[in-house]
Amino acid sequence: MELKEAIQKRASVRLFTDEKVPFEDIKEMITRASLAPSINNSQPWKFIAITNRELIKNMSSVVQNKVEQIFPHGNLKANILVQNKVAKFSTFFMDAPLVIAVIMTPYEAAVDDLLSGTALTHDDINKMRNYPNIQSIGAAIENLLLTSVDLGYGACWLSGLLIARDELEKLLDVRPPLSLAAFVAVGKPKESVRQREKKSLEDIFEIRE
Ligand SMILES: Cc1cc2nc3c(=O)[nH]c(=O)nc-3n(C[C@H](O)[C@H](O)[C@H](O)COP(=O)(O)O)c2cc1C
Repeated sequence: MELKEAIQKRASVRLFTDEKVPFEDIKEMITRASLAPSINNSQPWKFIAITNRELIKNMSSVVQNKVEQIFPHGNLKANILVQNKVAKFSTFFMDAPLVIAVIMTPYEAAVDDLLSGTALTHDDINKMRNYPNIQSIGAAIENLLLTSVDLGYGACWLSGLLIARDELEKLLDVRPPLSLAAFVAVGKPKESVRQREKKSLEDIFEIRE
């Protein structure tokens, strides 16, 4: 598939068939994700491909519990609807045949060598540079999403379930200095994939000559 076609076809898919994703395809997705640019070529990521139904179910339960805990609806009808919506968008991955956990690993920046004798820390510089480690992970995830389209799958980038980050890190045995950055749900789309409306070029683009 042409790159342009993959970019144009990509849309978030949240309903999947039961068809399993073969190991070779998972490997291809992660391989192409790993080719993304990253700060100082640090490649500050790891990927856990989760296909175990029991584990996926447990993950969705901890997220569901957390949604109910931190966004109480107080028995108000409108709030109940919102809570249901938040829960739905944070737990629909439970029916995906594949959930990929994207883990952030520590990185060393070239400027770190210049920090001794200054009041600045690695974290200060990371913040000043607008979190290049997180930006790098975003690039890897986009590669993953486009690869899933190229291989005939649908996928959805997920950050909603990180409201239960501590519980999920425990469940997946992700320990410091590693941390969970995001998830991606992948599978064969159950229904035709619909592209969402995007802003017009005039709204988002200007050229300064
Ligand atoms: C950083 C990030 C986090 C996201 N988290 C979620 C999520 O938790 N749940 C969800 O259903 N969709 C999530 N999405 C998907 C967006 O809702 C989706 O990309 C957006 O609505 C545009 O639709 P499209 O992907 O079909 O173009 C996330 C997307 C991004 C980029």
